[in-house]
Amino acid sequence: MKPALIVHGGAWDIPDEALEACKSGCHRALAAGWSILSRGGSALDAIEAAIVALEDDPVFDAGYGSHLNLDGRVECDAMVMNGATLRAGAAATLQRVKNPIRVARKILENCPHMMLVAEGAERFAKDQGIPLCQPEEMVSEAEREAWLKCKEDKHAAAHHRGHEQGTVGAVAIDRDGNLWAATSTGGTCCKLPGRVGDSPLIGCGCYADSEAGGVSCTGYGEAIMKVVLAKSAVDLLRRPATCVDTPPNISCEASTADLVAREAVHLLAKRTHSTGGLILLDRHGNPGLAFNTPRMAHGLVAPDGAFLTAV
Ligand code: GLY
Repeated sequence: MKPALIVHGGAWDIPDEALEACKSGCHRALAAGWSILSRGGSALDAIEAAIVALEDDPVFDAGYGSHLNLDGRVECDAMVMNGATLRAGAAATLQRVKNPIRVARKILENCPHMMLVAEGAERFAKDQGIPLCQPEEMVSEAEREAWLKCKEDKHAAAHHRGHEQGTVGAVAIDRDGNLWAATSTGGTCCKLPGRVGDSPLIGCGCYADSEAGGVSCTGYGEAIMKVVLAKSAVDLLRRPATCVDTPPNISCEASTADLVAREAVHLLAKRTHSTGGLILLDRHGNPGLAFNTPRMAHGLVAPDGAFLTAV
């Protein structure tokens, strides 16, 4: 089977001055994942490599440089899911792990449970050989400044250079047809300590089923949870796509995978009046994406192997 890879760096009101950083961040993530897939490597290794690249990039809200909680600390959530077995590995409220996706993977591979949180998740990570850092090492200067402004005033996107939500995600299929999806986030700025968003919740911020497709979501977690967005999108892939935002007599001019992505985002907007976006691969590797925010950072590998990135 031809491998496929799609990534995102969050759906948000990306300011013009961050466009190039978002595009090059997605490009680096594609390069990291595709260097594995194109050599016959596994989709799991590819999405982990892609997410690590995105987590390490402070322009996105995942890993180092994530938004800070009310206490001024980074608290990360991440999840990875195997479309063949429906097994997931998820970790939430990590404060001392540079790459939360690595913990999610270890939980999937080596833990009898599918989700661990907080100190227990960090202890498991350490036992699995993942180094723990000091919580301060996760904090970027830009986010500390934004958090201080939010504390003086109230939380506002303006304090964050417009960087309200920048969750990251990846979906891949490898040469052997294995489909995997992953999502990683620092969550929302000034969240209550202990808040868990949609990203590590199976079916909410991430889902994969080899019989239909794989999805990674971005947006306001409390809304995404209400419509179990990732699983809803995967279920839409099981039936013929419909055009939700085009008059009946006009051609949709979109791929089936894009139509499904649009329908899922339409559901989010209609039922929660909230914003967000998602990326997906159907079970054949066809990419789709949609968002109802001003922009969404994303990238995919075209059939000719070219990296396409956009916001
Ligand atoms: N979508 C990320 C979050 O709300 O935590």
